[in-house]
Amino acid sequence: MPATKVVVNIPGETPYDVRIGAGVLEGLGSWAKKLPAVAHAPHLLIITDANVAPLYLEAARTSLKAAGFRVSDIVVPAGEEAKSVAVAGEIWDAMAQLGLTRDAAVVALGGGVVGDLSGFVASTYMRGITFVQVPTTLLAMVDSSVGGKTGVNLDAGKNLVGTFKQPAYVAASTDTLATLDEREWACGCAEIAKSSVIDSDEFFFWLLEQADALAARDDAGVSEAIARSVVFKAGVVAADKTESRGVRECLNYGHTLGHAIETLAGYGVYSHGAAVAEGMRFAAQLGVDVVGTSPELVQTQGELLDRLGLPSLPWSAPAEDILAAMKRDKKTRSGEVRFVLPRDIGSWELVAVEDAVILEHLRAWEASKVR
Ligand code: NAD
Ligand code: GLY
Repeated sequence: MPATKVVVNIPGETPYDVRIGAGVLEGLGSWAKKLPAVAHAPHLLIITDANVAPLYLEAARTSLKAAGFRVSDIVVPAGEEAKSVAVAGEIWDAMAQLGLTRDAAVVALGGGVVGDLSGFVASTYMRGITFVQVPTTLLAMVDSSVGGKTGVNLDAGKNLVGTFKQPAYVAASTDTLATLDEREWACGCAEIAKSSVIDSDEFFFWLLEQADALAARDDAGVSEAIARSVVFKAGVVAADKTESRGVRECLNYGHTLGHAIETLAGYGVYSHGAAVAEGMRFAAQLGVDVVGTSPELVQTQGELLDRLGLPSLPWSAPAEDILAAMKRDKKTRSGEVRFVLPRDIGSWELVAVEDAVILEHLRAWEASKVR
């Protein structure tokens, strides 16, 4: 099956291609040779992690070398801990020692952690050099590799330091997804489901129809789900590149409760996707009272999440603790907790919900777990 191409066209930025399909990794070098920003780079630095390196580093290196590039690589530890100022510092030092100049380029080979970290070092080294995303998780293919948010974590919170820098190219090689475990797969599915609810009936009902194919990782269905998600995200980012126009916030659907669950349950107990899916269920239910969301949406969204391997979580906590965790989230403004609430599929609102209303709904949600 030939690769699909989506063009990301963001005002004020050079448009870039996202290529999606099996074999895209093997073609990385020849595509890089066609990119004006990369073709003449004297040196490419692949940044990857310790899980991805044994699986795909050789293929990436071979393809780039065959196209005539000089290639070096850095392997960082796998996991969120690598998104740190310390690891970024080690990479900056290594870049300087390798003698990378302003016309060099970075290739981020991995999931969202590698993508965010690599984008951050590329956007800051010598005040910014080109970078290419080669996402290898479903989440990175449908979300983090597109849109230009880069960053590292601080002890005080996730993604507190970062930049906006769009990649020059995104190579989403769907065959790399074969080695992804169920947990990481479901994380990507949660973001696809999120995108479909915010986007349109067309995307949502297509996904509902394709849910079994996606769960079975059928390549045609997976590639189309990635392409639809990328088209959706590109449109959102084109409308609000720096999350300053009240549009990009829609990408946080499900994340208000989701982040609180991750914090209170302890990071890693539930995957990000499982927590976001639970947050989507809660937000839709809250929306019934606050913005008139239809009960059918709540039910159909629940069915979609179930079929994508994102069942309702067997976890609850005191409503006051959950509200307090929401208030500590960096997305909270002036002590107000804001939710992206779907009025309908394809129609949403960012609403600052009163504490009393949140508590009432959290209690009902908690009670529904006990039954
Ligand atoms: P991740 O990068 O940690 O990858 C998950 C795990 O899968 C890691 O252990 C990784 O080594 C492994 N892995 C990666 N590819 C694999 C493959 N093909 N086969 C087997 N194992 C593989 O996590 P993620 O879910 O991809 O990304 C999460 C990160 O993305 C978070 O830091 C989050 O903040 C960030 N994020 C950024 C944006 C953005 O817009 N920049 C959007 C969403 C999320
Ligand atoms: N995933 C959040 C964003 O890109 O804005």
